[in-house]
Amino acid sequence: MRTLKKTLIAALALAGSTAISVAAEVEVLHWWTSGGEAAALDVLKKDLESKGVTWKDMPVAGGGGEAAMTALRARVTGGNAPTSVQALGFDITDWAKQGVVGDLNETAAAEGWDAVVPAALQAFSKHDGKWISAPVNVHSTNWVWINKAALDAAGGKAPETWDELVAVLDAMKANGITPLAHGGQAWQDATVFDGVVLSLGADFYKAAFIDLDPAALGGEKMVEAFTRLAKLRSYVDDNFSGRDWNLASAMVIEGKGGMQMMGDWAKGEFLKAGKVPGTDFVCIRFPGTQGAVTFNADQFMMFKVGDDAKAAQLQMASSIMAPSFQSAFNVVKGSVPARTDVSNEAFDDCGKKGMADLAEASASGNLFGSMAHGHAAPAAVKNAVYDVVTAAFNGELDPAAAAAELAKVVAAAKQ
Ligand code: BGC
Repeated sequence: MRTLKKTLIAALALAGSTAISVAAEVEVLHWWTSGGEAAALDVLKKDLESKGVTWKDMPVAGGGGEAAMTALRARVTGGNAPTSVQALGFDITDWAKQGVVGDLNETAAAEGWDAVVPAALQAFSKHDGKWISAPVNVHSTNWVWINKAALDAAGGKAPETWDELVAVLDAMKANGITPLAHGGQAWQDATVFDGVVLSLGADFYKAAFIDLDPAALGGEKMVEAFTRLAKLRSYVDDNFSGRDWNLASAMVIEGKGGMQMMGDWAKGEFLKAGKVPGTDFVCIRFPGTQGAVTFNADQFMMFKVGDDAKAAQLQMASSIMAPSFQSAFNVVKGSVPARTDVSNEAFDDCGKKGMADLAEASASGNLFGSMAHGHAAPAAVKNAVYDVVTAAFNGELDPAAAAAELAKVVAAAKQ
């Protein structure tokens, strides 16, 4: 029996995405619980089911995945890790360092992943030269999703600069809608702040959030970033506190809200509601960030499992990496493929723009990991940033005090 399974694993690795014929199950921990997310997840579940792999669902709601990571810690501590876990950037590296992750190298080599996955993603998919997770997409956070009718009523021109953005928000306010649909949760505040910081310059974003340079974190430009954040706060409705991101998307979908500053998973909600880009909604880069991208990639990190579960785990990784799957999944999710060799044909205009922007930003050196979504710095730093950004958004720190505090807490957290 053991030999049979070993043969099966080897055959699977060699055959790439060939279906397996034994009954097998993968238990998957993830935070894809909104309508658009669930629709995308279904593409993966169905793909695996068609290959004889049963899906055991372990959903833990909460954008950005903080709650999911807490649930995961409990499972791993209990000696009962799931087969696979949705994870972001530095969280993957943190788990890898603990020696609990699996090894996908045979499948990766047989399928040539090294040649088709961008280096920015491989930095997290691999640890010590070993593939440990399968990247399913690339999202980015510096997007704004605008209700088309609300934009038309506000003059019709999508804003390209900060001043134009403020003018459109003012016009939407005058038109009696909530200009900025937002959910007051730390990760959502931080998602908006990714765009705000990037709008003050790609070099500034890099210095502050990638290099964690104290002068950038606590300097004049950061004071300006917090001033912009406070301005955005003035366009949010009174009931924003604790609101889930997809409910903020729904406000824009229904025209009660003018726009949402959110990663392109928001597009999944618009599509799920039957909305069409260019007709019902408009997607633009956060004004002032054109040409640059703050990305986060969802990966399915694989845990060490026994021989009985290994074949299903490798099948899952192989299925995720198949070009046809990367297209079908990301068309629904709102993200773009994690492989550079997937055609943009099936994607709508926002998806095509996402793919072109990603390639351009990568070529020009303006592709940066998202601070809000765990791709700029490890969780300790990210959480310190969350605290300051949320306090500033809620008016508990003025812009100057927020910048000073940011430099202080990041310095402490990065040690
Ligand atoms: C993930 C997305 C997800 C979003 C909201 C992000 O961190 O990368 O896949 O849709 O959180 O849940």
